[in-house]
Amino acid sequence: MNTKTNYQTWIRMNKLLIFLGISLLLLLITLYSVQVYFRVLAGMLALPFLYITFILSYSVYQFSTFGGGFQSKIHHLIVSKVEDGSGKILDIGTGSGSLIIKLAKAFPNSTLTGIDFWGENWEYSKAQCEQNAEIEGVSDRIHFVKASASHLPFQNGEFDVVVSCLTFHEVKDSKNKTEVIKEALRLVKPGGTFVFMDLFMDESTFGKKTELVADLTKHGEIELNDDKLTDILPLPKILRNKKVLGNAMVLSGKKANKAQSR
Ligand SMILES: C[S@@+](CC[C@H](N)C(=O)[O-])C[C@H]1O[C@@H](n2cnc3c(N)ncnc32)[C@H](O)[C@@H]1O
Repeated sequence: MNTKTNYQTWIRMNKLLIFLGISLLLLLITLYSVQVYFRVLAGMLALPFLYITFILSYSVYQFSTFGGGFQSKIHHLIVSKVEDGSGKILDIGTGSGSLIIKLAKAFPNSTLTGIDFWGENWEYSKAQCEQNAEIEGVSDRIHFVKASASHLPFQNGEFDVVVSCLTFHEVKDSKNKTEVIKEALRLVKPGGTFVFMDLFMDESTFGKKTELVADLTKHGEIELNDDKLTDILPLPKILRNKKVLGNAMVLSGKKANKAQSR
């Protein structure tokens, strides 16, 4: 069995390789084509591809543990917002299991579930999560389930803690991403905690932030804090770009106890 954990970054390597390949091809045409027209055209087209390749490569470096370690730092930030993790914990869109395994280590009395759709579009898998949990010595308390965040196969209020990181905006089988957040909140028990990090300030996905917060809090069932990620975690300039984490926010809080919400 493998003894080394495998947690990829959020940047898909196949996407990076496609942009790198196209950039190199355009550069070759720019340098070696006999037709001046093709050289100019390829040179102009190469610029945006080179720019995107640079942003993707730099992000891989900053997210990975051999670089800035920012993916791990963001997961630790989410863990730090969970005051009491001694019960049942759910991670929605668990990816390679990195966040849920950190929670398992931080809260030895917890039992944990990681769900993900693990679609072809992503390079993570359920087997990878199980192997990472095994290597980290927490596999007896975590189980991984394939499910979509839009329809989660759990009862109302089944979990003491529900977390999610950079997943809601990816859920393709629900047009309305606010409904996906509400589906996650449905599973938090009264008095329980939630911590969600996502691109909540991207209006094209989640609408206006004030309306999103008003919609989530309108029945008084949750207490909600909204923190812009860059305000609570210093990030390198390129990660602050809106195409990377510039629109990221942490929505966290508690579900009211039934008596409080009446
Ligand atoms: C950017 S990755 C984040 C992974 C993980 N949360 C982390 O922080 O490392 C987005 C994740 O969303 C998952 N995902 C996409 N659509 C989903 C869906 N409908 N239901 C559950 N997970 C989904 C992907 O498989 C992927 O693991």
